[in-house]
Amino acid sequence: MKEKIANIKKEFLEEIRKVKTEQQLSEIKVKNVGKKGTLTQVLRGMGKLSPEERPVIGSLVNEVRDEIERLVEEKKKEFKQKELQKKLETEDIDVTEPSKKVKLGSLHPIKQVIKEVEEVFLGMGYDIADGPEIETTYYCFDQLNTPADHPARDLQDTFYITDDVILRTQTSSVQIRKMEKQKPPIKMICPGAVYRSDAVDATHSPVFHQIEGLVVDKNISMSDLKGTLDMFAKKCLGEKTKIRFRPHHFPYTEPSAEVDVSCFVCGGKGCRVCKDEGWIELLGCGMVHPNVLRNCGIDPEIYSGFAFGFGVERIAMAKYGIEDMRLLFENDVRFLKQF
Ligand code: DAH
Repeated sequence: MKEKIANIKKEFLEEIRKVKTEQQLSEIKVKNVGKKGTLTQVLRGMGKLSPEERPVIGSLVNEVRDEIERLVEEKKKEFKQKELQKKLETEDIDVTEPSKKVKLGSLHPIKQVIKEVEEVFLGMGYDIADGPEIETTYYCFDQLNTPADHPARDLQDTFYITDDVILRTQTSSVQIRKMEKQKPPIKMICPGAVYRSDAVDATHSPVFHQIEGLVVDKNISMSDLKGTLDMFAKKCLGEKTKIRFRPHHFPYTEPSAEVDVSCFVCGGKGCRVCKDEGWIELLGCGMVHPNVLRNCGIDPEIYSGFAFGFGVERIAMAKYGIEDMRLLFENDVRFLKQF
């Protein structure tokens, strides 16, 4: 009996050395310690033994069975470890491999123009102001010396929320908000969206952007306005740019003017961008009307100021050669990624 058990163990040890798979391992386990396994058979034959031999053989069988089970478990762990190792090797992450390129967007051309203009005016000591897009008629018209019967206030031109709340039609409303809050000296620009009840076409949109400028101080004159706009045009549109003033009318400035710039594409010779005019209309401006100063509690006998306002889309279109304003609002990536 003892010999038989020793052989079982010997044979098992040989087999387990050769085992290559978990399947084979479980087979040799069943073969030896399973219900019909070699060791179980030894136990079954114990009846033939003498009462003295039984406990000796019984404990020997248990010993060998424990040993076999322990070795099988060990081997199993070995297999698991190898499997893990293999996985780690094949699924390795190569940190030096070039990563997928993240596609970075770029600033929208409208935003690019706004930033450029801001840089120029910040350099001249201006603040950048902000105001609400949902505005009252008080700030957008009344305080800007724009009477109730002015066409700008017509339903055809303005989006009304209530009788006296509108989507602002111009950033000029921020002039009033600024002057109410701050005593002169004031030097500010205000970029922002404005809304007009216009149908969409290649040069019109019910929403567009403006940049407003306002300077109020002692001894501000038309020559300050001219010098400032000349500087602005040269910095933003090119050093060779010239400006010209044409008389105009705005309710909140007196005198008022419109300013053209020499075409920064053809230099004034005439081209598609300037429609062969050599000049591009740029902005409206003037000396702040005394009534407007007075409305904001600023004495026009002591202070004077100038203001200007222009459309950002128009500049972006001329600058980048964009022929249809709708492209600026559709946000088609194929268009936007060119800037
Ligand atoms: N608010 C005018 C517009 O929307 C532009 C403008 C003209 C602004 C003259 C001004 C100004 O500040 O003085 O067309």
